[in-house]
Amino acid sequence: MPDDSASPSTGKSLRMVVLASGRGSNLAALIAAAKVGDLGATISAVFTDRADAGALAIAAETGIEGRWLNPKAFDGRPAFDQTLFGQIDELAPDLIVCAGFMRILSADVVAARSQRIINIHPSLLPKYPGLHTHQRAIDAGDPVHGASVHFVIPALDAGPVIAQTRIPIQPGDDAHALSSRLLPAEHALLVACIAKFSRHRIEHHDGQLRVDDLVQPAWCYEHGLAGAQ
Ligand code: GRF
Repeated sequence: MPDDSASPSTGKSLRMVVLASGRGSNLAALIAAAKVGDLGATISAVFTDRADAGALAIAAETGIEGRWLNPKAFDGRPAFDQTLFGQIDELAPDLIVCAGFMRILSADVVAARSQRIINIHPSLLPKYPGLHTHQRAIDAGDPVHGASVHFVIPALDAGPVIAQTRIPIQPGDDAHALSSRLLPAEHALLVACIAKFSRHRIEHHDGQLRVDDLVQPAWCYEHGLAGAQ
């Protein structure tokens, strides 16, 4: 297994793998950005826990290796995770990107790769970890919603935030309208974040984000927020 001294560092093209369970729009955005040289990374493989994941089809269409591991074929979460991360380690990625991977990861596989696993979550963490984030933001009367890219730690949607994007919630928004408007901003956020990993050493220690050894607040991107708070 590669150790964490092989963390992303300045000025190189990163090798990354993507974990996805769903339609794969984030994966498609990453592939498009890599194609035009905006990502600073190449995608070695896509892993999924669902045979019908759109992400798997997108990988196939674009010539990226896609692997499906069936959770039902394993005797519990630890066995699944050990196999999944055993296969990931063989590819020696600098970065492991969870983009709509709908499984909680075991604490030991996360701890062993603590500086190299990131996740995109559709809320302004620490608000709304878990599911139904768009509806929860609307129900709370929030004026602003968004998405976060964060380090994965052994707790759900809880690791240090690296970057966020914010959009206004508009009168009459329902969860579908809000998630549709957020999605392009999510894609831009994830691409921008990975590009930063290719230029900087980005780590977390004691719950804090560090960029090139300096403690730094999360980056924030704003889309259409004039006048909103
Ligand atoms: C995105 O909203 C992401 O933030 C969340 O799951 C969704 C995945 O969408 N974690 P896609 O499969 O990338 O289209």
